[in-house]
Amino acid sequence: MAELQEVQITEEKPLLPGQVPKAAKEAELAARILLDQGQTHSVETPYGSVTFTVYGTPKPKRPAILTYHDVGLNYKTCFQPLFQFGDMQEIIQNFVRVHVDAPGMEEGAPVFPLGYQYPSLDQLADMIPCILQYLNFSTIIGIGVGAGAYVLSRYALNHPDTVEGLVLINIDPNAKGWMDWAAHKLTGLTSSIPEMILGHLFSQEDLSGNSELVQKYRNIVTHAPNLENIELYWNSYNNRRDLNFERGSDITLKCPVMLVVGDQAPHEDAVVECNSKLDPTQTSFLKMADSGGQPQLTQPGKLTEAFKYFLQGMGYMASSCMTRLSRSRTASLTSAASTDGNRSRSRTLSQSSESGTLPSGLPGHTMEVSC
Ligand code: BEZ
Repeated sequence: MAELQEVQITEEKPLLPGQVPKAAKEAELAARILLDQGQTHSVETPYGSVTFTVYGTPKPKRPAILTYHDVGLNYKTCFQPLFQFGDMQEIIQNFVRVHVDAPGMEEGAPVFPLGYQYPSLDQLADMIPCILQYLNFSTIIGIGVGAGAYVLSRYALNHPDTVEGLVLINIDPNAKGWMDWAAHKLTGLTSSIPEMILGHLFSQEDLSGNSELVQKYRNIVTHAPNLENIELYWNSYNNRRDLNFERGSDITLKCPVMLVVGDQAPHEDAVVECNSKLDPTQTSFLKMADSGGQPQLTQPGKLTEAFKYFLQGMGYMASSCMTRLSRSRTASLTSAASTDGNRSRSRTLSQSSESGTLPSGLPGHTMEVSC
């Protein structure tokens, strides 16, 4: 007797002229990124060209991690210590990383001609879709610092369906008020642009302590061959509009957000205020002790651990993937927190939330990280 066989019939749509089959497009993309371990690309956008560097191998159904750096820095000077940190490798091996350099900030960038109209921060955000289209990524997890955190937030407000999560370090979502402008103008009378930018990146305590790190970044900013370009990005940052976040309104971030700031850092108050305006069920707030103005440079270990919890909360890092180190740290926290306050302070995460629980990877927590 003839057996009935199940045959799967897929309806093939005829390709339009010039259309590349989806599988071929995906294969081309995979090949492009496979070859691209730290390969720099540029794409044209309505606001000029933008450069980005891609690391990692694409994993199906995973968002890209997309970073955006602060003023005075580029993707390497802002993020290399974090992404090259030992424990971070276990996390990032599961994602493609797309590190955007704001126009004119890439290594070796020529100085823009006099009178060049640098994009506003809103326009920088509008360049991101061109990057994602080029790489064929439909969603991202963004990590931004300072001006970069603002750019990613603006992008998330405009394209909420494409942002799965945001790590925002030192974000100031408010436009400068007239008092800020007056202070800015006064400082400008006595300080150079590099000094003003260093005052934005680091706390006064950092700067007067003059650690090796501060000396290194002072040298980077002061002797930048593209200082004129940096000044343009700085002006765009200072002319930013209010993001107008309002808790419970339509103008808010819809994805899980981890806000990060160093305690005593220049943007502490702005980040605290930002936390009060975002959806508390979607937002974690991480105030890092002893981290100065740039927690991603000074405390890559703590930030890596917090990022791991954040991804876990989004369902991307199974607990079985946690390193022995993380598991034992979490465990030691439970006992250390109750038995030995000093030890827990010196080890790792402590929370000051209403929930009073340990980091769970779920948003809606305030964590203070001490070392
Ligand atoms: C990365 O692996 O994503 C990376 C490597 C070097 C510098 C910055 C990022």
